[in-house]
Amino acid sequence: MPRGAQYGRRTYLCGHSLGLMPLAARETLAEDLEDWERLGVLGHEGARRPWIGYHDALAMPMADLLGCRTDEVVVMNSLTVNLQLMLASFYRPAGARRRILIEAGAFPSDRYAVKSQVQWHGCDPREDVLELAPRAGEELIREEDLEATLGRCGEQIALVLWPGVQYLTGQAFDLARVARAAQGAGALVGFDLAHSVGNMPFPLRDTAADFAVWCSYKYLNAGPGAIGGCFVHSRHFEAARPRLIGWWGHDPATRFDMPHDFRAAAGAAGFQLSNQSVFAAAPLVASLALFREAGTQRLRAKSVALSTFFEQLSAQRTPEVRLITPREQAARGAQLSLRVSGDPVRARRVFEWIRAHGVVCDWRAPNVIRAAAAPLYNGFVDVFDFVECLETALRAA
Ligand SMILES: Cc1ncc(COP(=O)(O)O)c(C=O)c1O
Repeated sequence: MPRGAQYGRRTYLCGHSLGLMPLAARETLAEDLEDWERLGVLGHEGARRPWIGYHDALAMPMADLLGCRTDEVVVMNSLTVNLQLMLASFYRPAGARRRILIEAGAFPSDRYAVKSQVQWHGCDPREDVLELAPRAGEELIREEDLEATLGRCGEQIALVLWPGVQYLTGQAFDLARVARAAQGAGALVGFDLAHSVGNMPFPLRDTAADFAVWCSYKYLNAGPGAIGGCFVHSRHFEAARPRLIGWWGHDPATRFDMPHDFRAAAGAAGFQLSNQSVFAAAPLVASLALFREAGTQRLRAKSVALSTFFEQLSAQRTPEVRLITPREQAARGAQLSLRVSGDPVRARRVFEWIRAHGVVCDWRAPNVIRAAAAPLYNGFVDVFDFVECLETALRAA
């Protein structure tokens, strides 16, 4: 739980937004600062975690967590920056195939990124960004509707950008199925894994995605604005895919010869632009060590137990709120989203009441409360406290 004594006791169910600090993050960051103080520029090679290879050292545990090859992962930048970079490489509109398919409720930054790329290529976002919505009266997108859309107009789609877990509803998609449908229609497919990584184990490589991007400040607990990451499937390594380039993506064997022409480093590392942001990445070192120790399958088992308890207790004690997250375990991670029916002003009052009484969850207008029991640091008592608080808030509001 957050440790600030001045805040009193708090129940923290907001790992879907900003995960809590791994205690070892302080030491990791302090070591990197000390090495800078002690070594100056010599830290590039002489630091405990040499800065020159900092991204390489992170790629292995990250790849383990994602279920892909180490050379398919690079830890760099932030999420939207990485999304723009990947779109610059993978969105190549040509002829009639120039549209991007996204979900209608996409996180705004994803929609903005996609629209700006479409405009960048001289296309019209109103025409060329296709948004798939849930069926009338439904909250969740059915994978068969995605397949049907691609069946109907797949030859116009250049790229499908899809979330691993939807940020508002908490719906987790069958990513292998999404990739099959996209690629079967001749499109490329990229995933935004902001709400998936560290939340649900999935073999990313088995999905056959062309690329993926994520942040590490949610379930990965690497701190506000922490370093993000990209996955690039190895089948794109040889193809000399067009990309926006910078010196850190150059083949490290000759990078410091300051060559006139660019030769990409092998793998996803060849998509880097700048040298590593060491202090933004340091907490991730501590966090990934924790994930390795805890084990993703064990974390998932606890997460399933927590979300099942959450769903059942809320159904019993707060039937007035409606769970919009899928009920099937395979189709959700830690986050449950609850719609508070009736007057939205009252719904907001319910949320404010919960917050004021020491439970940290969050709110999405007009009436959704999102709460996630993150298995690394939440227990059943947190879920119990939340539901009890919600029940009292509903009575009080
Ligand atoms: C699904 C999704 N995409 C994009 C973003 C934007 O992330 P950033 O500000 O790190 O670029 C977020 C942030 O929460 C997100 O949840």
